[in-house]
Amino acid sequence: MRILVTGGTGFVGSHAAVALAEAGHVPVLLDNLANSQVSVVERIGEITGTVPVFVEGDIRDSAAVAELLRDEECEAVMHFAALKSVEQSVAQPLVYYENNVGGTRVLLEAMSRAGVRSLVFSSSATVYGEPEALPLREDASLGDPANPYGATKLFCERILLDLFRSDPSWSLVMLRYFNPVGAHPSGLIGEDPRGEPTNLMPLVTQVAAGLRPVLRVFGDDYPTRDGTPIRDYVHVMDVAEGHAAALALADQPGAWVYNLGTGIGSTVLEVLGKFKASTGIEVPYQIAPRRAGDVAATWADCSKVESELGWKARLDLGDMCTDAWRWQQELGTAGL
Ligand code: NAD
Ligand code: WQD
Repeated sequence: MRILVTGGTGFVGSHAAVALAEAGHVPVLLDNLANSQVSVVERIGEITGTVPVFVEGDIRDSAAVAELLRDEECEAVMHFAALKSVEQSVAQPLVYYENNVGGTRVLLEAMSRAGVRSLVFSSSATVYGEPEALPLREDASLGDPANPYGATKLFCERILLDLFRSDPSWSLVMLRYFNPVGAHPSGLIGEDPRGEPTNLMPLVTQVAAGLRPVLRVFGDDYPTRDGTPIRDYVHVMDVAEGHAAALALADQPGAWVYNLGTGIGSTVLEVLGKFKASTGIEVPYQIAPRRAGDVAATWADCSKVESELGWKARLDLGDMCTDAWRWQQELGTAGL
């Protein structure tokens, strides 16, 4: 299938483009480069052997997106384009609602105009808010997301469900992924955010590379086995392949929700321990106060996606650490 990949030069989108190409699909990338570099396009080509079509543009430009869908004869859309900084969303909620929610609405209108009614949407475990029970199942009550970013994901899911109720000819798959980390094993693509990262793994690798003196561990007084918070870290290549697996539903009308995780929770200190075991590097850290909005523990029940789509994470935390570190070293040498 020819697939429009919005946010296609971003962290998850670029890895999805690789997975799509390797599964025999043709990814067409659209990105406004708000949080990524155009150099990713050539690097995707180095990995897959074919440089994908890339259009620098914005999902909020309905006419341009509808034209792109028609010109490139796209049969489905994989929608990664969004702003994703929790901290920034708290400071600039209207920017996030306009881009993430408004942008998704405009994208859907453009798809409708172009006669394309298959969408795979990047949702997030953040829609669950504070978990009431673990592991988290898709039928868990959707809590009160702790920040505007998480709310944009919840609102987008609601828009998709309302759209399907109004027109059941749509095929809509919502993927709630937990904490994607790592990088393609080639070291050619990975997480390369503009500005300061806030996620754990890029900060771990920057400390390991000597770009930062120490990692701040936000709290060691949580009710967990070592006092630090638990998350379900999942390799970005597994997440990418989960998106490719979701295309099996593209030609079926319906609305589906799936968790993408490993079903394994790891504490922050366990991540540091695994990083050392995988790379030989002991990352210096200091305990800092808790970070506002953090939950103590969250990890996924992935039985639904495994039984219905046949997807299961293959890579473990050691692979994530090894691949993330290789990418950090590439960033350093390539001057990216
Ligand atoms: P990213 O910032 O690396 O990628 C998002 C891409 O979208 C960027 O390249 C950015 O330039 C582009 N973009 C943003 N607004 C756009 C617009 N209006 N028009 C066109 N392009 C636009 O982020 P990511 O980590 O790859 O996340 C991809 C998707 O997955 C996002 O929707 C995010 O909310 C979701 N998600 C991410 C995580 C995570 O931890 N990384 C977890 C769960 C869900
Ligand atoms: C992981 C753990 C921190 C940095 C976020 C978004 C979520 C989703 C994934 C988009 C936490 C701890 C972190 C540091 C630390 N993104 N940490 N020191 O917060 O689980 O989820 O990214 O959908 O919406 O909220 O991920 O990587 O920021 O933090 O101790 O310098 O690492 O407290 O326990 P998080 P994270």
